[in-house]
Amino acid sequence: MSTAQLEEHFTSAFDHAPDGVWQAPGRVNLIGEHTDYNEGFVLPFAIDKTARVAIGVRADSTVRLLSTYGDHGMTTAHTTSLDRAAAKGWTKYPLGVIWALQQRGIAVPGIDLLLDSDVPLGAGLSSSHAIECAVVSALNELTGAGLGPEEMVLATQLAENDFVGAPTGIMDQSASLRGSKGNAVFLDCRDQSVRLVPFEAEPAGLVMLVIDTKVSHSHADGGYASRRASCELGAEILGVKALRDLSIGDLEEASGLLDELTFRRVKHVVTENDRVLQTVELLSSEGPGSIGALLDASHVSMRDDFEISCPELDLAVDASRASGAIGSRMTGGGFGGAAIALTPVAAEQQVRTAVVRAFSEAGYKAPDIFTVTPAAGAMRLA
Ligand code: GLA
Repeated sequence: MSTAQLEEHFTSAFDHAPDGVWQAPGRVNLIGEHTDYNEGFVLPFAIDKTARVAIGVRADSTVRLLSTYGDHGMTTAHTTSLDRAAAKGWTKYPLGVIWALQQRGIAVPGIDLLLDSDVPLGAGLSSSHAIECAVVSALNELTGAGLGPEEMVLATQLAENDFVGAPTGIMDQSASLRGSKGNAVFLDCRDQSVRLVPFEAEPAGLVMLVIDTKVSHSHADGGYASRRASCELGAEILGVKALRDLSIGDLEEASGLLDELTFRRVKHVVTENDRVLQTVELLSSEGPGSIGALLDASHVSMRDDFEISCPELDLAVDASRASGAIGSRMTGGGFGGAAIALTPVAAEQQVRTAVVRAFSEAGYKAPDIFTVTPAAGAMRLA
């Protein structure tokens, strides 16, 4: 839906014009998985699929929420009594952001909000963070709160952790708020410092394919939290503030101090941090064609040591690699969602066909396959 259509739709639904329209993108993570809450490194980029919100401020404390997809009914709440247990579906995200801003002492007025989004839901492309980042950008302006990107990142993390109930880190919202066209966002999750790293597949004769397995997942389920708990246990036993403080050379000693499972969790995080740093180096020195082996190694580590893949993701990775991709890995939190496959332009069609065929032969739902390029971060559209 265009910005003008969204404004029109808003006006006819709420009987007044919106104060503005804001958008924020989903993301793919090039590399650096489950490293963010270990104060490590990540390298995601914002994609050209976005959530857009038209918002109008009200004179009272009522919040009315409407979307162009899924449940078409209007949800009503009040800024004075936000109830996380009662919030349903996507409405948790805007309500969570209002709640999080309130926790930071920001007075949020009642609003009418219309959401439109083309970020696929539950595909591991951060559709929820796209909504949260569009809303936090809007409310930051509309309330005059004057938060910088780092503070908006923390506000949306608070919304996710304490309102939505998913113990996630800061990667997704950082990509959505701080992304930039043509660049991946190299983020140090300890101090939120960012370096933009050019990532343009096309001039290197490559495309980045996303293979959405259609296996949906929720990070409010137990798998994500249990991985996080293992990492915290590992850091505690090894006497470091966060796993970020360990390097590959520390792993041998760690293997003697940790139980076998905790060790594998720790090993994934420590080696993944190292792979992020190597990827950044290689992208600068040799370009995107040189990072395939690191993507592959990242997937193996998630599959075998962190155990967050699933048969559909493994098949997407194996089938794309076997048919011509130069590197492939699951992206995002895991347990479903999408894989990325860095693929020579000349092999794109053959990879698409091979993956679809492999899914059909395995009796899996047909995957959705599309290309992504690094796009701009959150912005005001009108
Ligand atoms: C989800 C979380 C992120 C990050 C990834 C795994 O996307 O929201 O904070 O932990 O999983 O890298």
